[in-house]
Amino acid sequence: MEPTRIVISGASRGIGAALARLYAAPGVDLVLLGRDGERLAEQVALCRAKGAIAEAVLLDVRDRDGMAERLQALDAAAPVDLLVANAGVALPTEGPLPDAATAQGEIETNLLGALNTALPLVPAMVQRGRGQIALVSSLAAFAPLPSSPGYSASKAALLVYGLALRERLRAEGVQVNVVCPGYVDTDMGARYRGWRPLAMSAEQAARRIRGGLARDQAVVAFPRRLALAARASMLVPERLRRLGLAAFRFRIDPAER
Ligand SMILES: NC(=O)c1ccc[n+]([C@@H]2O[C@H](COP(=O)([O-])OP(=O)(O)OC[C@H]3O[C@@H](n4cnc5c(N)ncnc54)[C@H](OP(=O)(O)O)[C@@H]3O)[C@@H](O)[C@H]2O)c1
Repeated sequence: MEPTRIVISGASRGIGAALARLYAAPGVDLVLLGRDGERLAEQVALCRAKGAIAEAVLLDVRDRDGMAERLQALDAAAPVDLLVANAGVALPTEGPLPDAATAQGEIETNLLGALNTALPLVPAMVQRGRGQIALVSSLAAFAPLPSSPGYSASKAALLVYGLALRERLRAEGVQVNVVCPGYVDTDMGARYRGWRPLAMSAEQAARRIRGGLARDQAVVAFPRRLALAARASMLVPERLRRLGLAAFRFRIDPAER
């Protein structure tokens, strides 16, 4: 069954916004969560233009108590069918070595922020015996990227947490899926200085995600060839992995605004 009440974090731009626009249709009720009110309002207007009910919620996913309170109120008003924990950051990689502040900042938003988004609705979904939670990780979860250990680690932890939660909630009727995109042309992608094989638009990524979630795939990983290579990188001997990962050195520039 297609979800009709959907909450998406990080919906002010990029993949989250594309996903909101893709699901937007008459009979669909969307909640778009983020920090940038102006951009959220633009996306809300686009979703409404497609016939959906849509509202913006200004929240920082790092605010655990604020997230819990607001999400539970949203769910009490109308039960959420699909929750997409998509908000994420790739912090600028400045200096020759990764630093603790960058690693921790990425873990705070990408891992803890995702848990702040997903977990408050679990009890209500379990009680109803239905609901779906999608955690947006990355193909970086499978590949220990030397240019961005903090990002890789945050996404790997989210992948493992998601798969564990999936198994835990399976018997309760709640579906959990982990989404692992490759390179996507968004603001985040535009700040990436390095090789981006098989890059795709946010709209293409959104279609892959919707399809994977409809099929209840445990891991929605795409594009297929890059996903295979990323997964294989953890299985091959270190010397081979080193060779492969040498092509994936990069830099993340600071955001423009
Ligand atoms: N682009 C890629 O190549 C790629 C590849 C693999 C995985 N991903 C993952 O896909 C997800 C979306 O990425 P994207 O490329 O669409 O990035 P993006 O264009 O930079 O958008 C990121 C979104 O996350 C929101 N966000 C960031 N920090 C937040 C916070 N603390 N609280 C609330 N919202 C926050 C931003 O909203 P505000 O600005 O309104 O706060 C924005 O809507 C991320 O989890 C990313 O790691 C991206």
